[in-house]
Amino acid sequence: MRYKVAAIVPAAGSGKRLGSGDKKPFVLLAGKPLVTYALKALDSSKYIDQIYVAADPDSIGRLKSVIEKYGIRKVVKVVAGAVTRAGSVKNCFDLVDPSFDIVLIHDGARPFPGESDIMNSVLLAARFGGSVTAIPVTDTIKLAGKGLFVRKTIDRSSLWRAQTPQAFRYDIFKKAISGTKNISNVTDDASMLERLGKTVKILKGSPRNIKVTTKEDLKIAEVLI
Ligand code: CTP
Ligand code: MG
Repeated sequence: MRYKVAAIVPAAGSGKRLGSGDKKPFVLLAGKPLVTYALKALDSSKYIDQIYVAADPDSIGRLKSVIEKYGIRKVVKVVAGAVTRAGSVKNCFDLVDPSFDIVLIHDGARPFPGESDIMNSVLLAARFGGSVTAIPVTDTIKLAGKGLFVRKTIDRSSLWRAQTPQAFRYDIFKKAISGTKNISNVTDDASMLERLGKTVKILKGSPRNIKVTTKEDLKIAEVLI
C-alpha cells in the first residue's frame, strides 16, 4: 500500500552551539546551505509527498529563495517556527491536511537521512503507530550524583540514542500533540506518544545520519560528503 506522507522539517533554531556568524540552516556545507541537504533527500524520496518547513520568522523569505534556487519542489509551506523545536513542529503540523496518513519529522540539521531510513520509518509508523530512528549506545553510561561523583553504571544494552526521522500515523500524532500540555518541555516527537502509552517502534539508524550541532560536526559532515 502507498501511504500519503507529509514531511515536517524543523529548521527554526538559531544554532547557538555551532556559534557561526550565520544562522545554522544557511551555514555552508561543501558550498551549499546546510538545510538543503535534508530537504533534497526528502524531496527526492519516493515516500514523501509534501514538505513543511519551519524557519525563524526573519528567515522565511531567505529560506524560500534557497528552496527555489536548489530546485526543491515538494515544499508547500515555509512556516514561522516557535521558541522551541516542538513548537516549530506543531506550527507545521497544524497546517498538514488530515487526509495524510503519515507525518515524518526530520531535523533540518541532519543532512544525510538515507532513503531506506525514510522508507522504514513510514512503514513502521503505519504498522505500529509511531517509529523513531535510533542508534544503540556504545559508550559506558555513568549516572552522576552530587559533586559529579559516579553513583552507578547504567546497563547500556537497552539504551538507544534517538535521531530523526521519526514518523507517526496522522491521527495518533494529532491526539498526542493536542494532549501535550507543556509542549516546550518536549525534546523529541516520539515522547509525546509515549506519554499517551502509544507504541513507538525503534528503527536502527545509521551513524552517518549525524546532526550538525558543533563546528566539529560540520567538519565530520564535510568528510562524509
Ligand atoms: N529547531 C526549530 N525550532 C526551534 C529550535 C530548533 O525548528 N525553536 C530545529 C533546528 O533548526 C534544527 C533541529 O530543530 O534543525 C534540531 O535542533 P538543534 O540541533 O538543537 O538546532 P538549534 O536549536 O538551531 O541549535 P542550538 O541548540 O545549538 O541553538
Ligand atoms: Mg537547539
